[in-house]
Amino acid sequence: QRQLCKGAFKPMEPAKTFDELKKQLEDCASCPLRKDCQAPVGWFGSLESPLMIVGEGPGGVEDDYGCPLIGPSGQLLDKYLFAIDLDRASNCYIANIVKCRPPKNRDPMQTEQDACIGFLRAQTKLIQPKIIVCLGRIAAMRLIRPDFKISREHGQFTEKGGILFTALYH
Ligand code: URA
Repeated sequence: QRQLCKGAFKPMEPAKTFDELKKQLEDCASCPLRKDCQAPVGWFGSLESPLMIVGEGPGGVEDDYGCPLIGPSGQLLDKYLFAIDLDRASNCYIANIVKCRPPKNRDPMQTEQDACIGFLRAQTKLIQPKIIVCLGRIAAMRLIRPDFKISREHGQFTEKGGILFTALYH
């Protein structure tokens, strides 16, 4: 499947600005998720944030409003952020592994993640976060290690390329 995916999708030049990234997202048809959602959900938050929070993909509410993590899990996240004196608008940057809502909120498939991951890489280059918090096993397996075990390893930090990664339960 991965081989097929590599052949099927022409890699895009990584966006060098957020405006370019926004345009690439709007034009993207790299995987079948796009036809079943309303629009790609790019990001929310401060472009100068040292903290990046990465979920797995938009759900129904996020698809309706075009903003990541604003449904029930996002509201819980906001409470946790508030408890440590952070808030999503001023000092966090929130994005997902895939930008288009998977049907019935299923896990995004590997091929869909492969098609979309370039956007997150471009986002990471632009933001240059110090810490990336993966929400849930899908983001952790994609960004930390394919065999990451969320039940055993949540809350542990791993350094990769000068960025500290950790994962929390979704
Ligand atoms: N909403 C998101 O934007 N991401 C998730 O991972 C879950 C819900």
